[in-house]
Amino acid sequence: MTARIISGKEVSAQIYAELGGRIAAFRERHGIVPHLAVVLVGDDPSSQSYVRMKSERCLDLGLGSSVVRLGGLAPEDELLNTLDAINRDDGIHGVLVQLPLPGHIRETRVLQAVDPRKDVDCFHPVNVGRMVMGDPDVLLPCTPHGIQQMLVRSGVRVEGSHVVIVGRSNIVGKPLANILVQKRPGANATVTVCHTRTSDLGAITRTADILVAAAGSPRAITADMVAPGAVVVDVGSNRVDDPSAPRGYRFVGDVDFDAVKEVASAITPVPGGVGPMTVCMLMWNTVEAAWNRLGR
Ligand SMILES: NC(=O)c1ccc[n+]([C@@H]2O[C@H](COP(=O)([O-])OP(=O)(O)OC[C@H]3O[C@@H](n4cnc5c(N)ncnc54)[C@H](OP(=O)(O)O)[C@@H]3O)[C@@H](O)[C@H]2O)c1
Repeated sequence: MTARIISGKEVSAQIYAELGGRIAAFRERHGIVPHLAVVLVGDDPSSQSYVRMKSERCLDLGLGSSVVRLGGLAPEDELLNTLDAINRDDGIHGVLVQLPLPGHIRETRVLQAVDPRKDVDCFHPVNVGRMVMGDPDVLLPCTPHGIQQMLVRSGVRVEGSHVVIVGRSNIVGKPLANILVQKRPGANATVTVCHTRTSDLGAITRTADILVAAAGSPRAITADMVAPGAVVVDVGSNRVDDPSAPRGYRFVGDVDFDAVKEVASAITPVPGGVGPMTVCMLMWNTVEAAWNRLGR
């Protein structure tokens, strides 16, 4: 069996087309466009590149965007004051703080300082709580929501499926489990979450109808860990040295793609899978936050 490729580029293009209409309708109704502010602390090259990508996507869609840059040694209070000013700025509808933050800044304090109504990453505890409780009006975190959208829009049956997630981070594993277990269409899955203390990981992953790899470990998922016909979602984005690549490195997923695609019925590639969906759902949340704020 050679797996069907589930392309995040294709699914996100479909969502961007829908978003174009929602942005036009917003402009018509309110006379402005939704605006995303990104706060970047320090000069980590990967973070800079992610922030650039988000700004470019806003530009492509005709959304407003701004980047607030603070030095890597900026005190925590300076960041909190910056967020306070953004929270009070009526012209900004969505805000995110690019992670990771320098070690001297407490991430939990910063994430709690974002106005929950502008929290397009859905990292504020109030929004996490609303998500867990299944509040239909809360914005959902971008990567897990993107995975759900990619599955549903590709015709993968989530309802009634056994979804095994490898990884229990607050960004991917835990929120994805909470989203897919909700009692609603596109969810209603039976979910198992695995981590480094899971005994006999392969025995559990082989029971998955849908296997999601979010371990941050290259080729952690091998073909013998996948049931024939399973759907495999590779969230991993791991930088590995590659002297033959133009920049001397490339990004690989958590799944041994070439071997697993011979076992699975469908699989997401890296790059071009979950990554484009994450940025897409960020744009989606920015537009939704603006509608929620100014009214429909
Ligand atoms: N494409 C995107 O948009 C996107 C977005 C977010 C993340 N990512 C990528 O997705 C990956 C995961 O990200 P993250 O933020 O969730 O990572 P993380 O915070 O490092 O969490 C990794 C999780 O995987 C578990 N794990 C690691 N190795 C394992 C193994 N061999 N067997 C079983 N469990 C294992 C860890 O278990 P313990 O809890 O026991 O340590 C942990 O729960 C990374 O490669 C990241 O770059 C991609």
